Amino acid sequence: MSLHTLEERENMKNYHIANIPGDGVGKEVAREAVKILKAAADKFGFGISFDEYDWSCDYYLKHGEMGPENVLDLLKDTDAIFLGCIGDAAKVPDHISLLLLLQIRKGFDQYVNLRPIQLYPGVETPLRTATPETVDMMVVRENTEGEYAAVGGLFMPDTPEGFAAQTGIFTRKGCERVMRYAFEIARKRKKLGDKDPVGLVTNCTKSNALNYSMVFWDSVFGKIAGEYPDIKTNMALVDAITMWFVKNPQSFDVIVASNLFGDIITDLGSMLQGGMGIAAGANINPERRFPSMFEPIHGSAPKYEGKNIVNPIASIESARMMLDHIGEEDAAADVQKAVKNVLVAKEVRTKDLGGRNSTPEVGDAIVKEFLAL
Ligand code: IPM
Ligand code: MG
Repeated sequence: MSLHTLEERENMKNYHIANIPGDGVGKEVAREAVKILKAAADKFGFGISFDEYDWSCDYYLKHGEMGPENVLDLLKDTDAIFLGCIGDAAKVPDHISLLLLLQIRKGFDQYVNLRPIQLYPGVETPLRTATPETVDMMVVRENTEGEYAAVGGLFMPDTPEGFAAQTGIFTRKGCERVMRYAFEIARKRKKLGDKDPVGLVTNCTKSNALNYSMVFWDSVFGKIAGEYPDIKTNMALVDAITMWFVKNPQSFDVIVASNLFGDIITDLGSMLQGGMGIAAGANINPERRFPSMFEPIHGSAPKYEGKNIVNPIASIESARMMLDHIGEEDAAADVQKAVKNVLVAKEVRTKDLGGRNSTPEVGDAIVKEFLAL
């Protein structure tokens, strides 16, 4: 049922979203993302339609590939893509199934992987240092090159002389654009922010050991930093960052990291924010030449498939980031408020947060709160 009149409906914006639930618990969490997006459409008076694609490891077992050849063609005219989670190693080796995800990230030049790490009140973490006051940062992960460039090869791998080479690719353009994005985000957060530190970009590097790639990365960082004299900078080696995330999470604002380092530190970051059940992510093409893709950071957890026990908040928060990206900022703000309120109330929550509720019960509670705001 719609809350809007026919006339309002004729004038409203319409968004066309591709939904790829994927494997394992993907369907269960994607359902909750779709639920909140539909509620947002009703409440804020825009139209939204979904095309669902069953690309997954089951698809692979049937067709010998993770999706049809024209995956990118099918997605290219959408306003955004939602992705649940891909991978089920019992069916298809991960390095094959995950090519679908990497193909979309690279094919649509989604060169920013944006991963907010914020601890909401009412959520407990295993870390004493993590409180809502100390944990509020944004990781900007490079998402198309670096260690994920898929450049390399195997030489006689089954012989004693065999070797593997996996080359990290760091282009000037690739480094500059993701770093600029990080500085822009830092500016935005500075405008909004009352937290301390604010207006600070930390360069996550490893230039003490990676004498070509990360030394180059650092030099590009220095150049881009020069374009943003209003933003402070800091440098931290990736191994030290894992230590500082735990010891001093309050000392971070925006962190820019290469593809692999960003991957690693955001799993650690998820523990600062209450676990993988909460951690959201967005693969962004900032120029909007291609659609961006929104996905929880967590994997597909095949052992929980069909049990309806996993936390949908990471997916709902990813949908929230989608709303922000497509221009429905007010709806996005209300989704975040609703999530926060439900977490603070501690009444409806999944097992990972110490509760007994099912995935759809948490999704429903958030929708109900969202509509009541
Ligand atoms: C992530 C995931 C992926 C990555 C895997 C599934 C390929 O770990 O999104 O963080 O490494 O990027
Ligand atoms: Mg990861």
